[in-house]
Amino acid sequence: MDRTPATPADVLGVPLLPPGSVTAAGNRLRGVLGRVHAAMAPPPARILTALFGMLEHRALVLLCRAGVPDALTRPTAIPQLAGRLGADPVRLERLLRYAATRGWVRLDRRGRVRPTRITAFLRADHPGGWRAWVDFAGGQEIVAAVGALSVDEEAADGFAAVNGAPFFDWMAQHPDNWATFDRAMGAGGRMHGLTLAAALDWSGDRRVCDVGGGTGALLSTLLDLMPDLEGTLLDLPEVVARAVPHPRLQTSGGDAFAHVPEGFDTYLLVNVLHDWDDADAVRLLTRVAQATGASGRVVVVEAEHTAVPRDALAVSADLLMAALTHGGRERGTEGFVELGRTAGLRHERAVRLASGDLAHVFHPRRDRGA
Ligand SMILES: C[S@@+](CC[C@H](N)C(=O)[O-])C[C@H]1O[C@@H](n2cnc3c(N)ncnc32)[C@H](O)[C@@H]1O
Repeated sequence: MDRTPATPADVLGVPLLPPGSVTAAGNRLRGVLGRVHAAMAPPPARILTALFGMLEHRALVLLCRAGVPDALTRPTAIPQLAGRLGADPVRLERLLRYAATRGWVRLDRRGRVRPTRITAFLRADHPGGWRAWVDFAGGQEIVAAVGALSVDEEAADGFAAVNGAPFFDWMAQHPDNWATFDRAMGAGGRMHGLTLAAALDWSGDRRVCDVGGGTGALLSTLLDLMPDLEGTLLDLPEVVARAVPHPRLQTSGGDAFAHVPEGFDTYLLVNVLHDWDDADAVRLLTRVAQATGASGRVVVVEAEHTAVPRDALAVSADLLMAALTHGGRERGTEGFVELGRTAGLRHERAVRLASGDLAHVFHPRRDRGA
């Protein structure tokens, strides 16, 4: 992905970032409408719809692998589109009919298929980069790990059980898949660069360290918006080797559990702690807390776990963590307060972001080390 600065239109499809409260209200409303919509169907229809959900994932992956979003620039007759893609027209039509019921494409009365905002976002050249999520989530290793989801006590790491190694070890053995994963993370990273710039006060900051920051999509977005800020990207060596170039971005390749560089005004951990169980999350946060000077802050961004599930994406992210990690999960504010306390950090506040996620702001505890 090049260094074109991220915009709300590119990363979220909106001209301006909404306040976090508006996103949260929108999510709640969508949840209510979704439940009303579901409740209108008789139970057998709901059961079958749920079971057929496996087709939804596959159909979206197939749509992209067949190249439909990239080829579909204007209303096109299906046989013509099939010819362009080298696809079987009848099979393609069946896929497109399914896609139309999901709102991914539109089929008009003349039998033509029309592009939509979704096909625009699914194009490989879309600046938001969300297509990489399809490439990542469509991978056989992910499908297999989700297929192995279990509630058994001994099913501690489904990904490792079916793929032979824990997630990041497996990625290290499969560089192409790892690069795809990095690109998928980059899509969310660009979004969070924008949302964090808007939601937090950066006026006192000169240096920021993004811990587990992937290839720097978030950090470079933040730096683009704040010309006086310098950033250091801390991630595994193979990952920072792929970092996006930015004149004020430095890289630090290494194991964040072993070492976190000192002296930054802000340490970011965005979608990092949810990869780890409580013991490892505390270990990592403790390292970060030790590196944070008395006036520094630590900002942890993740989806919110609420007592009553409200945000469907947050709940899905939690189940995905159950499938892909050893004890990783989404946490609520109380969980972060406790993780921070154990790591020597004081939870100051949680800020709702335009993405719907929460940014937990921590400061070193004055009594730490006492
Ligand atoms: C879920 S991704 C989040 C990436 C990025 N923060 C974002 O939100 O897009 C977790 C990141 O943690 C990194 N990571 C995993 N183990 C690590 C370790 N021991 N030290 C440093 N980074 C690590 C991964 O390489 C990956 O980039």
